[in-house]
Amino acid sequence: MCGIVGFIGQKDSKEILLKGLEKLEYRGYDSAGIAVMNDEGVHVFKEKGRIATLREAVDQRLFATAGIGHTRWATHGVPSKVNAHPHQATSERFTLVHNGVIENYTQLKDEYLQNVELKSDTDTEVVVQVLEQFVKQGLEVEEAFRKTLSLLKGSYAIAMLDEQNSETIYVAKNKSPLLVGLGDTFNVVASDAMAMLQVTDQYIELMDKEIVIVKKESVTIKNLAGETINRDPYTAELDASDIEKGTYPHYMLKEIDEQPLVMRKIVQEYQSDNGTLTIDPCIVEAMKGADRIYIIAAGTSYHAGLVGKQFIEKMAHIPVEVHISSEFSYNMPLLSEKPLFIFISQSGETADSRAVLVHVKEMGHKAITITNVPGSTLSREADYTLLLHAGPEIAVASTKAYTAQLAVLAILAYVTAESKGIMVGMDLVKELGIIANSMEALCDDKEVMEAIAWEYFTTTRNCFFIGRAMDFFVGLEGALKLKEISYIQAEGFAGGELKHGTIALIEEGTPVIALATQEHVNLSIRGNVKEVVARGAHPCIISMKGLETEEDRYVLPAVNEMLTPLISVIPLQLISYYAALHRDCDVDKPRNLAKSVTVE
Ligand code: F6R
Repeated sequence: MCGIVGFIGQKDSKEILLKGLEKLEYRGYDSAGIAVMNDEGVHVFKEKGRIATLREAVDQRLFATAGIGHTRWATHGVPSKVNAHPHQATSERFTLVHNGVIENYTQLKDEYLQNVELKSDTDTEVVVQVLEQFVKQGLEVEEAFRKTLSLLKGSYAIAMLDEQNSETIYVAKNKSPLLVGLGDTFNVVASDAMAMLQVTDQYIELMDKEIVIVKKESVTIKNLAGETINRDPYTAELDASDIEKGTYPHYMLKEIDEQPLVMRKIVQEYQSDNGTLTIDPCIVEAMKGADRIYIIAAGTSYHAGLVGKQFIEKMAHIPVEVHISSEFSYNMPLLSEKPLFIFISQSGETADSRAVLVHVKEMGHKAITITNVPGSTLSREADYTLLLHAGPEIAVASTKAYTAQLAVLAILAYVTAESKGIMVGMDLVKELGIIANSMEALCDDKEVMEAIAWEYFTTTRNCFFIGRAMDFFVGLEGALKLKEISYIQAEGFAGGELKHGTIALIEEGTPVIALATQEHVNLSIRGNVKEVVARGAHPCIISMKGLETEEDRYVLPAVNEMLTPLISVIPLQLISYYAALHRDCDVDKPRNLAKSVTVE
């Protein structure tokens, strides 16, 4: 979702800003813009569509040592050049980019901007116009900035230029991620360290309701009361090569292929010197002290949570509920006496999940975040963090983060069980090794997956995924992958549920992908396949070695039955990838989607 960059220093800022925005493309956007400032004033360039279009629009002859940039994912107003950021106040003195949602922007408009003609439909323009009103009334810019921020309800990450002060970028943050990066003769602003890794790996985290005065040789953090705050920078441990595609045509394919490596890395990270799996003892104690665990997540991470529930209940014998984060506040269950919350989020920034975290912390409950991004909002605000160690995931469709979430949840369940003296009956280090090898074998079988994609998805408008037990949850994830990147309408169902309504949709040739990896339900799911075939479906059965029959289209290598989701999802990821490719879809940046969903 929207991204911000900013640069102030002794170099020309245009290219640094454009390159930074390119690194943020993965978050999803529909328009982009930059504003650069030199002694002649502020120059704004913005366009609907891709950064490449913006790049063409930028006047390359300009030299400007300060600037801000933005990728916009529309919330208020359609994607258009007018609604794209940066936005300017009427006098064009102030220029501002913003991520997040200003919930009270209509009230602000009514109260402060009755005589101001707004150019766009955005909540952002209201912010810069209100600030200009305060400056007109005689406030210093910093004071006006602070006063404006104190009126805003909602979430924001903001960077602002003042044409009359080419030495400063004004920055502020509340609930939306934003970092300040430090350089020798320059400083930068970025919603994600990745964007500015080209110039620095030293970053300062900002907390909610802080403002920052960024100059080329200094960074001053203040609270809304104007008091200065000191904070040390940290080194962003990202390898620039991790965020390159290399020889891969798409990040998604690269990330699918990285899964075996990620499994081995996770085992390494969670292994103690004596080879056993280990987790921060405080986390294990929190698990053991809970009478019920509430997993909160969205999308793919929610699907991982459904599998995680099985791991925790079966291994550690603790009851678990899994909730969609955006629904939790309205449909909050009656909590148990000693609840423990687990937030699963690849990005660690999902606003829906964060809203629940804020709520449960206010209620005084403990929370663990399982995330891929150290220092992310959900990580900082929870009591404990378990990292996924999957490396940056750039493609919008989550692949390696999902399997990493499953592996970390399995380790959490396993270590908790061991600590409770429960015999789990497997050696998880060994089993995850087998999983990594099996993943490798599956990734080597790409031609088969491509052929399946051709056969089933060249012309179809819809598709069903069915499974029972663990396979049901993987089917949900398979359906999400297919629909988000190929735009084929796809739904996942419990095998036994089809006949209660959905079977009415099965017509001649409807693709039905059936997962059959669970021995205790093998006959039942095969019965469900027969039911849909009798109504004309084109079935594709993916089974597991030991359970296979002649009708199966693909047979997965045998792994521990409880851990099958870690490998059965891989053919579904690959099939979705090739289906999207054959349909000429933008695989890494599907329409309407954002990688980091920072609005509720
Ligand atoms: C789908 C996908 C999304 C995310 C969801 C939650 O491929 O990536 O469904 O899983 O937006 O995001 P995180 O995990 O960052 O909280």
